[in-house]
Amino acid sequence: RKLFGVIGCPIHHSMSPLMHNDAFKRAGIDAYYHAFHVEKEHLKDAVQGMKALGIAGFNVTIPHKTAIIPFLDEIDEMALQIGAVNTVVNENGRLIGYNTDGEGFVRALCEELNIKLEGKHILLIGAGGAARGIYFSLARSKAACIDLCNRTVSKAEELIHERTIPVLSRAYSIHEAQQLLGNYDIIINTTSVGMYPNVEEMPLSLDNLRKGTVVSDIIYNPLETMLLKEAKRCGAITQNGVGMFVYQGALAFEKWTGIFPDTARMKQMVIQQLG
Ligand code: ATR
Repeated sequence: RKLFGVIGCPIHHSMSPLMHNDAFKRAGIDAYYHAFHVEKEHLKDAVQGMKALGIAGFNVTIPHKTAIIPFLDEIDEMALQIGAVNTVVNENGRLIGYNTDGEGFVRALCEELNIKLEGKHILLIGAGGAARGIYFSLARSKAACIDLCNRTVSKAEELIHERTIPVLSRAYSIHEAQQLLGNYDIIINTTSVGMYPNVEEMPLSLDNLRKGTVVSDIIYNPLETMLLKEAKRCGAITQNGVGMFVYQGALAFEKWTGIFPDTARMKQMVIQQLG
């Protein structure tokens, strides 16, 4: 039996074991996925332990995504640029780090909403860890522009300077972005603003939102943030963070097994557990 898992702190609320154990069963693979609580100061030992035990692959979550990099044997180019690893594959004893968060977001956006990003005007809200993966993944999509807005504008500017794929990007303050909101086809919140318990908060005001705009929020607790509620009220097409969570997991599963699992089923399981 092959062993898989996720390391994080806290980890007891992780929905990954449910999602992956079901996917292994459905694929007819004799494997078990476990959630491991790993404190920051034990990360190095934990990674060595994973190797010693021959764990076939594991996910990495808060607070270890960046800290784990020096303890792995090889880091995929995209994960290195993002500066974070969420998926590790054990290849004959060598631990290889990947990042499926950004691509997971992009796949969820395109496949769940059945949209193409080519030629689209996109606004990202936020410039933190979550924004990095999404921004670099979106940069490959032939979008017309990917603009960033952030409470701290300098962080958005810095992120734009780091991109390696040429794409039109401008950095705005939240106030400027609010004025320009009508220019965008797709607006994505990558900040934690609106997450439980601060469910009344919104990262920006939607006064200038155009009807038919796509508004996606990476938050899934609550399932519908105030931003999505307001956006829906204005006639937007909305998406919550469950899709990104499911697709990052599905892409990790594919790296471990070569099989891309049934994301609709995974999504159903996650929503059931959240609800
Ligand atoms: P994560 O890894 O979840 O992205 P992070 O790297 O700490 O976490 O980034 C958090 C993001 O949410 C940042 O864009 C942050 O804005 P700043 O760069 O100005 O700090 C944004 N954010 C967090 N709390 C916020 C708040 N109360 N109002 C506005 N933006 C906030």
